[in-house]
Amino acid sequence: MKKFLNLGLQPLANSYITRNKLNHKEKKFKLIVGFNPKNYLVSILNTIPKEKMFNDKYPYKSSESLTMKKSFKDLSVEIKKKFKPNLILEIGSNDGAFIKNFKKNCVIGVEPCKNLAKITRDKGYKTFSEYWDVSLAKKISKKKKIDVIYSANTLSHIENFSEIFKAVNLSLSDKGILILEDPSLLECIKNVAYDQFYCEHIYVFSAIALKKILDKFNFEIFDIQNTKTHGGSNRYFIKRKKNSFYKLNPNVLKNIVVEKKNGLHKFSTYKRFANKVLLSKKRLIQVVKKIKKNKKRIIGYGATAKSCTVLNYCKINDKQIDFFYDTTSYKISKFLPGSKIEVKKYKKLKKNVTDYVFLGAWNFKKEIFKKERDFIKSGGKFITHIPYPKII
Ligand code: TYD
Repeated sequence: MKKFLNLGLQPLANSYITRNKLNHKEKKFKLIVGFNPKNYLVSILNTIPKEKMFNDKYPYKSSESLTMKKSFKDLSVEIKKKFKPNLILEIGSNDGAFIKNFKKNCVIGVEPCKNLAKITRDKGYKTFSEYWDVSLAKKISKKKKIDVIYSANTLSHIENFSEIFKAVNLSLSDKGILILEDPSLLECIKNVAYDQFYCEHIYVFSAIALKKILDKFNFEIFDIQNTKTHGGSNRYFIKRKKNSFYKLNPNVLKNIVVEKKNGLHKFSTYKRFANKVLLSKKRLIQVVKKIKKNKKRIIGYGATAKSCTVLNYCKINDKQIDFFYDTTSYKISKFLPGSKIEVKKYKKLKKNVTDYVFLGAWNFKKEIFKKERDFIKSGGKFITHIPYPKII
């Protein structure tokens, strides 16, 4: 593993602090990102035990966003049409934004975060509140094999691939496929989106890296879709090598060629990326400094895990950003880890509240700009750091 980016000491991105614990010392971890020249995998170096991150208080809910809900709905229509599955399983089913698009008797959720698993179970969806592994796969698929396994924004959190793919292989039917969806490394590099790296995001995948990993488990990618969610993601359609039911789509080679053209297989690309990250930090600090010099207020929008990386790396705190608006009930009245900026219940933006808004949830820019068009029309400004820090 060759290191290329040091994002400093970072708290756990999703451990929002309650007011009574504001003065407690937070645990911080070195956030260093590296590149493996053998399998092209980009990952963080210090991983945190999963039990510390995915517990009964996991705050992120997919259903909070219209973009994600629509993306899952569209995909479910496509899956039904193309693959006609009898049984579907989702690894990391969160609050059910994907599985709720299927009939209750033909979908199974797997979600280790108990607070989230309870939501879908209460609605009548079979949900296992466990980590996806070989023993769970055996238990679930004993009577009936699974035709489609879907997992979005989850594999990037899981250290042990071997267990995952063994469990997938065990439980898939003969024609069965696996669909993985995760932020695209190419988009991350192009957008200088260094905030895709935080303690929970162990990996940001490229097609070339995933291909190498899958190879070891006798799986292969037969189609790739580039989607707009989470700042640009890839949806990989994967099958067993021996499964000749699906043809190789030319998209796969196209994606690989583009990634190689952009140098994702070379260490020098990542060194250049790290230099851009440093510039991005300097520039964001300048932008914020200038606004504060003019005695203007800044608030944040979308208290994301990504913001946690940015704020802690750029050492921006409650002296510069008064508070964040967020729609997630769990985060409200708590404080962002590290920067200790308060999260308040979302209200429509108004010029008399603030002139400047730091766009923490930049991956939902389109949705947010539509929602806040009155604020924008009245002269309200957003600060974004993607692809480089500027006021818009
Ligand atoms: P997410 O995109 O999952 O980012 P991360 O994985 O980095 O945490 O989180 C989006 C956050 O933004 C979530 O807390 C909900 C919030 N949000 C709003 O408050 N308003 C909005 O209109 C949208 C789209 C999101």
